Amino acid sequence: MKRITTLTCLMLSFFAMAQQQTIDQKVNALLKQMTLEEKIGQLNQYTGNNAATGPITINPNKQAEIKDGLVGSMLNVVGTKYTRQYQELAMQSRLKIPLLYGQDVIHGFKTTFPIPLGEAASWDLAAIELSARVAATEAAASGIHWTFAPMVDIGRDPRWGRVMEGAGEDSYLGSRIAYARVKGFQGDKLGNLNSVMACVKHFAAYGAAIGGRDYNSVDMSERMLWETYLPPFKAALDAGAATFMNSFNDINGIPATGNAHLQRDILKGKWNFQGFVVSDWGSIGEMVAHGYSKDLKEAALAAITAGSDMDMESNAYRYNLPALIKENKVSIDLVDDAVKRILRKKFELGLFDDPYKYSNPDREKQELNNPEHRKAAREVAAKSIVLLKNDNAILPLAKSTKTIAFIGPMVKEYKANMGFWAVELPEVDYNKWVVSQWDGLQNKVGKNTKLLYAKGCEVEGDNKDGFAEAIATAKQADVVILSIGERHDMSGEAKSRSNINIPGVQEELVKAIQATGKPVVVLVNAGRPLVFNWTADNVPAILYTWWLGSEAGNAIADVLFGDYNPSGKLPMTFPREVGQIPIYYNHYSTGRPAQDDNAKGYVSAYTDLKSSPKFPFGFGLSYTKFDYSDLKLSTTKMKSNEKIQVSFQLKNTGKVAGEEVVQLYLKDKFGSVVRPVLELRDFQKVKLNAGETKTIQFTIDNEKLSFYNDKIEWGSEPGDFELMIGSSSADIRVKSDFELVK
Ligand code: GLC
Repeated sequence: MKRITTLTCLMLSFFAMAQQQTIDQKVNALLKQMTLEEKIGQLNQYTGNNAATGPITINPNKQAEIKDGLVGSMLNVVGTKYTRQYQELAMQSRLKIPLLYGQDVIHGFKTTFPIPLGEAASWDLAAIELSARVAATEAAASGIHWTFAPMVDIGRDPRWGRVMEGAGEDSYLGSRIAYARVKGFQGDKLGNLNSVMACVKHFAAYGAAIGGRDYNSVDMSERMLWETYLPPFKAALDAGAATFMNSFNDINGIPATGNAHLQRDILKGKWNFQGFVVSDWGSIGEMVAHGYSKDLKEAALAAITAGSDMDMESNAYRYNLPALIKENKVSIDLVDDAVKRILRKKFELGLFDDPYKYSNPDREKQELNNPEHRKAAREVAAKSIVLLKNDNAILPLAKSTKTIAFIGPMVKEYKANMGFWAVELPEVDYNKWVVSQWDGLQNKVGKNTKLLYAKGCEVEGDNKDGFAEAIATAKQADVVILSIGERHDMSGEAKSRSNINIPGVQEELVKAIQATGKPVVVLVNAGRPLVFNWTADNVPAILYTWWLGSEAGNAIADVLFGDYNPSGKLPMTFPREVGQIPIYYNHYSTGRPAQDDNAKGYVSAYTDLKSSPKFPFGFGLSYTKFDYSDLKLSTTKMKSNEKIQVSFQLKNTGKVAGEEVVQLYLKDKFGSVVRPVLELRDFQKVKLNAGETKTIQFTIDNEKLSFYNDKIEWGSEPGDFELMIGSSSADIRVKSDFELVK
């Protein structure tokens, strides 16, 4: 059997190589026929009119330029009708090179899934891959070839609105999720009708913007870049990501778009990336504003030299590369390399065989928002919800509850559940595309349960006129559910906030409702960690519901009534106050660590605030309890070429089935550079029935002990380690020491 397998693998790899060689031959043959203008056209990307996702440059000649073969790609052109229209123009060009359609399919297409930060809270890699798979299927059915996702920027600063797009603060979790998302988007093979190219963004370190202010500068050591910010990009590359997108920020003084160290040395050099790099929206032209290029021509020179292959919406290449080549400032080889990278993807997608293969109205009708996809969205949404508090086991609610008051500005909202970067939905028949939280509750409760509603207040503003009605409504109920938080467009691009409290007078509404003495459950809808200390300290039950997408209402109802036992864990640390930022779990010890929240004096702590977060990384409760016991290591001494087998017993000691994300953390006690107080190195999401026990196993290998030293060399160092396994980064249940020996 083994011999046959080997033979099969050899044949498959030979076939793949042969196919690639055929594509390379076709690319080279086509390149030979192309004029300089047609080559530069392939590097040129324009936005359509579906939705501008950046500062738009008016260009009335777009359609004419497409017909002349001067445009290689469009974004924001959605639907089989429009993609076919523009493609027909491209087919009138001399060489009939098809257009590439890109789109921000960030968390679903027409069936919308939870925002990526919410999905990350599921720690369920299969669910995350499924979400991307459904998104790709729907997008590809609508003429899209390429999604500008996954966004893999590590986010340690909740003032930065784009944390909603990523997988949180941890490099290991972020890497595992990046890999899953690329696999989900690209499926088995590019060119399949339900696959789209992934685009790993934003390269690089965009999430480290100083002050959490979007587009702001980034300054960090090369070691921090490699240790924390690059791993998710490498994981995405290892998953076969077809494209990368560079970032708006300057990093260590050089804009990423013009940064040869990032794009040439690392991505195309050390990592041998064979795909292509697209600039972010206008980011080539923005190097003038950065003060890095004195004009658009200089910016074009810097970008093409640094490895930015395609120019999104800055017109820099279109209008400046011809002169730069004629003046011998840019070698035609650089342009040819960029063109070949792009053409290769168009061949792999099968667009030369059939430019309209993705623009099939029947398939579009069949795939978009279908029941199977909505079912997937509901499951992923429920898994993304994090139970932050459940005093006196108020939750799950009994289905026999007589009267429930559902209060707050998010209750009857539709769009708010979609979050930022949702693909535009028609403003009519919203309830066809989204289940509001009110709809979800109505779908769930039986005819013997009476539902009462009051808005109470708006998301923003100081108007409390609605409080009286809300209080009166609450008094009539057996239990009150309050749904508060951020509106769908309050986190996302260009949505940095200096104050991350719950907006408006919503927490005052919570106080007023709490004062009625009724049992209160609060749902917090947000795209980022928010500060809500009064609610967290005084309300007995809190669910963090992010923005959950099309099935928000049903998923929330599933959790509220225990049809799904919440299993989410926070992918980001929640600060007590904005003043604590940056705060993240895998920090260094410092020479004067604060041993606990009460530490005073000469320690690294604030004198006016506890050092611990409000809610730690990896935290999330369940309707049941889990017991960790009987930790065993196969040995407590390992060499770098050996492994340690780890096992422990996990028991569901409660009365209902549930899922637990068991998290394995390591602490390298001493190193040639200081090491984090602990860092996530593995996890498993385990489902257990009530009373059930399972033996959980992990393997410690040298990779898990490795890090970048001060020479940016990856490897482990002999010494003492502590292994910790727990329910969160601050809730270690079992631990053991071991040693890495020479
Ligand atoms: C935006 C975003 C990027 C997005 C692109 C196209 O400015 O930064 O993430 O993919 O432009 O919409």
